[in-house]
Amino acid sequence: MGLPGNLKVAVVGATGAVGTEMLRILEARAFPVDELVPLASARSAGRTIRFDGREVAIRELSLEALRGADLSLSAAGASIARGFVREAAAAGTVCIDKSSAFRMEPDVPLVVPEVNPEALEGSPKIIAVPNCTTIVAMMALAPLHRAAGLRSMVLSSYQAVSGAGRDGTRELAEQVEKLHDQVEELGRPDLDALPVGDVFGKTMAFNVLPKIDSFAEDGSTGEEIKTVNESRKILGIFDLDVVATCVRVPVPVGHSVSVLARFSRAITPGEARSLLEEAPGVELRDDPANGVYPSPLEAAGRDEVLVGRIRQAPDHDDALLLFACGDNLRKGAALNGIQIAEHMFSTG
Ligand SMILES: NC(=O)c1ccc[n+]([C@@H]2O[C@H](COP(=O)([O-])OP(=O)(O)OC[C@H]3O[C@@H](n4cnc5c(N)ncnc54)[C@H](OP(=O)(O)O)[C@@H]3O)[C@@H](O)[C@H]2O)c1
Repeated sequence: MGLPGNLKVAVVGATGAVGTEMLRILEARAFPVDELVPLASARSAGRTIRFDGREVAIRELSLEALRGADLSLSAAGASIARGFVREAAAAGTVCIDKSSAFRMEPDVPLVVPEVNPEALEGSPKIIAVPNCTTIVAMMALAPLHRAAGLRSMVLSSYQAVSGAGRDGTRELAEQVEKLHDQVEELGRPDLDALPVGDVFGKTMAFNVLPKIDSFAEDGSTGEEIKTVNESRKILGIFDLDVVATCVRVPVPVGHSVSVLARFSRAITPGEARSLLEEAPGVELRDDPANGVYPSPLEAAGRDEVLVGRIRQAPDHDDALLLFACGDNLRKGAALNGIQIAEHMFSTG
């Protein structure tokens, strides 16, 4: 792949969990950044970040600061994205946004490059990066879907606290610090004495919370609704039969999904393993007898989505169970966005 050598690249949310990872990945992949424009809130303006051996001053996000940028990679939240992305795109900047603001807009492609790169045809100016859980699930399922036609899926997620940004990680760390010597007492906890923070709303340390985002009228959470809708859009199966339960777990980095997937024809675990072994961006970890199966700590800091525990669903030769883990900050957000940018600016 060839890339032009003189891109002016804005990173919006450069101080955040995803933004920090974007800067690392831009450097590591030698993305051709001629001029970096790191943007954040007024709180961070004037601070510097180190990029490519230089100190670069962070500026407050504004359309003026984005002027002339070839590319904007943004991870600053949906309401902030709504405030600048359409205008910046109209001014000629390719905007790759990691928030939920534009994902379901009909004119905005929602892209995982290994899964639906064709959605990038026609040089769109705004491209949305899917939700981190959806990306992990799609990386594992798309190769199987291409071969056997996905008909339905039941998904449960186990999502890391860094999915809620820097504040989520900090909240877990503070609570673990407070509770680490009370592990036995937590068998009969004094609920009123447990630490509760603003991010998760209940104690996150030594606990799991089946609530990510707010509850909708039907009892689903926002995260579950995103997972369902985005899976349908990415795969282009608008009537896909899919349900999700999304759960926050006290893991620093790495989202996991357990999936029951049903296909249009019979498919064996052996065929699924062969397909996943060949799939770009996927690493098969499926030898349970020898202790080989995915876990989030093994996926953290890695580019690949790890897939294993592949089993036939009892009495259903067209259905499989599997477990997959991916780094929510990398493939779930920053890396996926930069891979999209590499496609968009590729000259090869
Ligand atoms: N974490 C994940 O795993 C993940 C995965 C996929 C997508 N995302 C999405 O990516 C976005 C960022 O998430 P995150 O986890 O990186 O959050 P985060 O760690 O809380 O970082 C938020 C970033 O946004 C900036 N920001 C806040 N208010 C701003 C404003 N008014 N103007 C400009 N910048 C502002 C912050 O700058 P200051 O430092 O100046 O406050 C910071 O750089 C969210 O939309 C999230 O849903 C996150």
